[in-house]
Amino acid sequence: MSTEDQMALFGAADLPDLLPGKDFDPDQIPTDAKVPIPTGTYTSMDEIKVHCNRCQRCDLGATRTHAVIGRGNPRANLMIIGEGPGQNEDETGIPFVGKSGQLLDKILAAVELTEADVFIANIVKCRPPANRAPSDAEMNTCRPYLMEQIRMVDPRVILLSGASSVKGLLGDKRGITKIRGEWIEWEGRLCMPVFHPAYLLRNQSREKGQPKWLMWQDIQTVKAKLDELA
Ligand code: URA
Repeated sequence: MSTEDQMALFGAADLPDLLPGKDFDPDQIPTDAKVPIPTGTYTSMDEIKVHCNRCQRCDLGATRTHAVIGRGNPRANLMIIGEGPGQNEDETGIPFVGKSGQLLDKILAAVELTEADVFIANIVKCRPPANRAPSDAEMNTCRPYLMEQIRMVDPRVILLSGASSVKGLLGDKRGITKIRGEWIEWEGRLCMPVFHPAYLLRNQSREKGQPKWLMWQDIQTVKAKLDELA
């Protein structure tokens, strides 16, 4: 989203003294979520990490242990976006390290993708209490960080893991069962909505037409696209 779009969305009257190209200073980033964070504010994931660990733009800042920024290759062709950190991620500051993350790594390995081939992040950087889904307001408040990450990684393909991820990035509120498996073009990139690994852990059947089987189709589609684009 451009700075202008953000201003329109949040209704902010003026920009703070923080414009693209200015030296990064996390202390200057306003806590008021209505004040946009302009495109180009950050030059590295580490800067985003420093800021997110100080961020109090929404209530999730009060209960997090660590902000969870990303893992993998920050120049990868494939970016994976999950919903938000769980307990393990909050404790370690690393996305997808719990049971869901282990399954995600297995799914990627099945099509010969490793951490070197992907960058993994989340819609919100701080853990929603009791692992509830992030609210629309939390997703919107956190959105500038994600936009900066996408700008930096510049992936050709984005895997949207679960309905919150689809809603958070695309604003599409359809259920994941309805939209998984179909490419959606967004800002010149190809997005593939897929089931969240936590959903697959709850639905273990590998039978044809079941979530695990569908995920296998979808990840193969993604791998084929990456090979085609390479
Ligand atoms: N689920 C997510 O969506 N993200 C994580 O980082 C971990 C679990």
